[in-house]
Amino acid sequence: MAAKRIKSIAVMTGGGDCPGLNAVIRAVVKTAINRHNLDVWGVQDGYLGLIEDRIERMTYNDVSNILTLGGTILGTSNIANPFRYAVKNGRKPEYKDVSDDCLRALRERGIDALICIGGDGTMASAAQFAKKGLTVMGVPKTIDNDLFGTDVTFGFDTAVTTATEAIDKIHTTASSHHRVMIVEVMGRYAGWIALHAGVAGGADVILIPEIPYDLSKICEYVMGRSSRGKRFSIVVAAEGAKAKDGAMVISHRVKGSPDPIRLGGIANKLASEIAAKTSLDCRAVILGHIQRGGTPTPYDRVLATNFGYTAMELLMKGVKNHLVVLKDGRLSSISLSQIAGKIKTVPRDGSLVKAALSVGTCFGE
Ligand code: F6P
Repeated sequence: MAAKRIKSIAVMTGGGDCPGLNAVIRAVVKTAINRHNLDVWGVQDGYLGLIEDRIERMTYNDVSNILTLGGTILGTSNIANPFRYAVKNGRKPEYKDVSDDCLRALRERGIDALICIGGDGTMASAAQFAKKGLTVMGVPKTIDNDLFGTDVTFGFDTAVTTATEAIDKIHTTASSHHRVMIVEVMGRYAGWIALHAGVAGGADVILIPEIPYDLSKICEYVMGRSSRGKRFSIVVAAEGAKAKDGAMVISHRVKGSPDPIRLGGIANKLASEIAAKTSLDCRAVILGHIQRGGTPTPYDRVLATNFGYTAMELLMKGVKNHLVVLKDGRLSSISLSQIAGKIKTVPRDGSLVKAALSVGTCFGE
């Protein structure tokens, strides 16, 4: 039996915001209208809008002039999971599967397919919807670059650029005051942002979750620099960095979120530990959500446009329930079922770790 022709699509952005989301929305909507003459709908605030039936029509004008805009014109949410949605029952939250309500909302509007722009949490729910018969297409978003199956996600380049600019600025104040500055960057359980921004910013020490550190090695290293007349050091720590004999530092937990753990605080911990062991003057800087904000870099605008266009083209060719990816320089796609439950971490023996080691960077080992 021939596949049903797609006449109407909806697009949504899920999880944390990320530079380039609007560029993807623009590419999806313009391609759908220009090339395929489809009806287009926008789901507001990620899966929350799907659950609450907030789905609006989108026109060409809605996506005009948004290419360079940070954030998402559709809004997003990283706490709503349609398959485990927290509903208040008195004081206690009760978790319900409201996915059928979401499917009904799409069906009532005649929507044939959903383009889900998001990270692993968004893709996990998209895969569950696919199992229930909905046609979905994923687009890989996250500043963390940890989505399995693709070499790169859009948003990562912008986050690395922002973090590198910050490290450059911290360099001048560190050297003036002869301090050890510990810069904490985002990245969840992967060290991509720390590794790339650390190398680009010439960090002396880079700490990533994939290479647990030994505090005494970091202290020896910064003391060694100090004794050679290098009176300052820059340490770039991923928020998920952890000591060999320790655990990741958790800042708080977000109730109802598919991934409730929020990391944060490693820079403060390291600053007091290094100061106590070396008597050097240490300061912690946490870059935080600034890494998710602002206008996307040209690289991310191009990648986001390519991803959005490819998502639409594949969908119209009959590919479904896939994630668009960039693999070895080529745009293609991978089944959502193949990426479920996996994340992409930094390989310890990868070329950038080797390059950093060979220019003298310390990983705390
Ligand atoms: O996944 C993107 C990310 O920015 C992570 O790097 C970070 O750990 C997390 O989201 C922060 O989430 P929130 O916006 O809920 O504080």
